[in-house]
Formats: sequence, structure tokens, C-alpha cells
Amino acid sequence: MAKRPTVVHTVSALRREIARYRKDGKSIALVPTMGALHAGHLALVREAQKRADLVVVSIFVNPTQFAPTEDFGSYPRTMKTDVAALTTAKADLVWAPSPAAMYPEGFALKLAPEGPALAGLEDKFRPHFFGGVATVVAKLFTQVTPDVALFGQKDYQQLRVVTQMAKDLDFPVKVVGIATVREKDGLAMSSRNVYLSEVERRHAPVLYRTMKTCAARIKAGEPIAMVLEEGRGHIKQAEFAVDYLEARNALTLAPVSVLKDGPIRLLVAAKIGKTRLIDNLAV
Ligand code: PAJ
Repeated sequence: MAKRPTVVHTVSALRREIARYRKDGKSIALVPTMGALHAGHLALVREAQKRADLVVVSIFVNPTQFAPTEDFGSYPRTMKTDVAALTTAKADLVWAPSPAAMYPEGFALKLAPEGPALAGLEDKFRPHFFGGVATVVAKLFTQVTPDVALFGQKDYQQLRVVTQMAKDLDFPVKVVGIATVREKDGLAMSSRNVYLSEVERRHAPVLYRTMKTCAARIKAGEPIAMVLEEGRGHIKQAEFAVDYLEARNALTLAPVSVLKDGPIRLLVAAKIGKTRLIDNLAV
């Protein structure tokens, strides 16, 4: 039977483990998560194992990236099954701080990322979000001191924000983005998919299908604005309220109007019932 990873809940216990790894000359990969682990998270763990001697997975539902109206309270917390999945995946260490361990009484810092964090995509609908993400990921980098950190392309703007933050703060870490893991019908795996009713779940793959169609048409030279407008219409017909479906430069996230402004990334966010889903695709 695989060995259960060590689980630590305090910064001092984490430091002891990290110091031991360093003393043995081991390199460290970090996979930051909010738990409720699925095959997408586990793909990050597998890739992490290829890139470092030891893999640390953090599990922390980070309160500072949720608005008061969002699902912080009801976000799925499945620590036991997460640790079981990480045992099978052969992760080495689970860093699972309590909110008080991460944000002790009197905590008074919030990073305010700019650039990709102000691209007018997720930031427009969740203005608090990237400040919370940048702050907690910077703390995770300081706590774990990883050589490499793995993030999913699923959260594409987040990947750009974290990459820029690591560069701007001179963290000696390589930030790596990993391809989105999807269900058979194309729906991007997400901890929030469990919120979908049976009917909503049947509608959900429309996001991926629409992006695929849009990407093919844009590549074939059709006008981007028209293609996206029709794509939005398509998604709306499947009972979604569309926050955005946009074509952006894959690196800067600046708007693009013609193919040669690329490489182009399509990004979508839409709500079905109470559940908000995001996805993206390279053109
Ligand atoms: P969470 O949503 O748990 O995601 C953790 C990591 O898994 C992120 O890097 C995310 O992009 C990646 N991921 C999620 N679904 C994926 C999929 N279907 N395929 C590939 N990778 C996927 O993102 C967060 O947590 C938080 O914002 C965090 C970075 C941990 C900061 O709190």
C-alpha cells in the first residue's frame, strides 16, 4: 500500500519538513489547491513529480479570494478523500493550514496585482479575486520555498497573474502551466461542477464546444467580433448567462481584433443556475 503523505497544519511544522528536504538536497514542487481534488489537480501532481524530487500539495480554501456573496461557506471541503487521493498519487507532503494559521490575528497585507490582473475578464466580475489569490500564493511560495510551482491553464488569467507576481517579487520559482483536464464530453473538470443539477450538467459542455467552433472559425479567417457574438448567442441558448466570451492575446491578455494580434486565447465565463463556470482555449 502507498504511504500516506505527511499532513502538516502549522507553519512551524511545515518549516521543519521543508528544512529536512533541503538538508537532503532535494528539490521541491508545489501544487497549490483549495481541495475537493479531481483528476485535473492530480494531473498537476503527476507533472510535479516529473519536475522535482518531492511534491508538496497545499489544501486551503482561501477566504480572501471570495467575496461575501460568493460560495466560501459552501465550497466543498473533502479533506479525508483528498488525502486518500494524494496517497494514491504518492504526494509527499500536504500543507493544510487553518485560516488562523494562514492569516493570524492582526494580519494586514494584501497584494494588489496589476497587468494581467486588470485585463477586464475575471477581475471585472470578481474584483477582490486576484488580490486574494496573489497574496495567498505569495505566502505559499514563502512558506514552501518551491523550486517549481504548477498551476492549471483552466484558470488562465490566474496563471498569468501568478506568473507575473512571481517575477515581480523575484521568487526563485519556475511557474508552470498545465493543460486543462476535461470530462469525456469536453466540460473542464472543476471542484464547482458538483453544484450542477443533472439538467445543467447536460448543458455545461456547450462552453467548450462553442470555443472549439469559434477557434476553428477564427483560424479560418472569419471576423473575430462576429464569431464571438454568435458564440455568445449559442451559449445563451443553452440556458447560460454569459459574463464574457472574449479573444485575447495569450500572453498579455490584451484584446485582439485580428488573427495577427495573436497568439490568441479564447476565454469564457458563464453562469447556469447558481453555478459560475470558466474555461478557455488556444486558437
Ligand atoms: P483550485 O480551484 O483548487 O485549483 C488548484 C489548481 O488546479 C489551479 O492551478 C487550477 O488551475 C488547477 N485546475 C483546476 N481544474 C483543473 C483542470 N480541469 N485541469 C487542470 N488543472 C486544473 O485555483 C485555485 O484552487 C486557487 O485559486 C489557488 C491557486 C489554490 C489559490 O488559492
